[in-house]
Amino acid sequence: MAVDYEKKGKIAIMTINRPEARNALGADVSREMNEAMVDFRDDPNLWVAIITGAGDKAFSAGADIKGFARGLDSSGAAAAEPARTVERVRADQIWKPFIAAINGYALGGGLELAMTCDIRIAAEHAELGQPEINIGIIAGAGGTQRLPRFVPRAMAAKILLTGERISAQEALRIGLVSDVVPLDQLMPTAMQIAETICQKAPLSVRATKQAMIQGYNLPLNEGLQLEHELAVGLRSTKDRAEGVRAFVEKRAPVFKAE
Ligand code: HXC
Repeated sequence: MAVDYEKKGKIAIMTINRPEARNALGADVSREMNEAMVDFRDDPNLWVAIITGAGDKAFSAGADIKGFARGLDSSGAAAAEPARTVERVRADQIWKPFIAAINGYALGGGLELAMTCDIRIAAEHAELGQPEINIGIIAGAGGTQRLPRFVPRAMAAKILLTGERISAQEALRIGLVSDVVPLDQLMPTAMQIAETICQKAPLSVRATKQAMIQGYNLPLNEGLQLEHELAVGLRSTKDRAEGVRAFVEKRAPVFKAE
């Protein structure tokens, strides 16, 4: 399998599994990632997903450049296919949260994939970058758009226009990742964050993600309106009644995504 897809309780783990090619995003990875995302989105028993890469070298070194080379022999359109398939079902179109556990290089489409996730944590040795300009393309799977929204503009421009990689510590400094941990703590930390989220009211978690993502591109008053509608939508949920009852009864709530 090009993507290992595991379910641990309410947590789905998607592991890009082409370590010999630095987990490059070939058509097989893109197709299997897409299938895993659809399953995660539609499985009511899954509440949080973690995306990571196999091995200790790379989260993903981006689109499969060797595939590009083959595609370019015949037609330019075929060469662009991996990027499009990466984009087919995106983590930021699914309101359940995603955590990227960046276990090494996150480059090109690899960083773009991580940027579709809600929370990014990195191993100490990870390096992140958008090196597309080195091979005559652009960060065309969202990089030119998301990176300047996620980090200060001068830093985004430097990363996108020089193609130079930044360290995990630098990514932490500019806010591109939330945590940097030793490699052996990467998945435990990702699982701990996922488990923390799984203890919260899942419909509240999803409405919060939806409000953040959809609200980002709205004028404030429209964003506040969206927030209000989502808040009203939660008022009649069983989980809200349970959360309030549990607080009054001084016990842990049992949420059911209802
Ligand atoms: C295909 C790749 C690859 C990639 C690495 N490999 N990255 N194969 N596509 N993106 C393969 C190498 O060819 C090599 O295969 C093996 O993985 C190990 O790579 P090395 O270079 O020997 O390893 P290392 O010295 O550790 O360097 C790792 C690296 C470097 C820094 C990640 O491989 C690298 O710079 N890769 C390219 C990164 C990149 O430019 N990504 C952007 C792609 S474009 P062999 O067979 O020799 O062992 C993109 C665009 C998305 O993502 C949007 C498009 C619109």
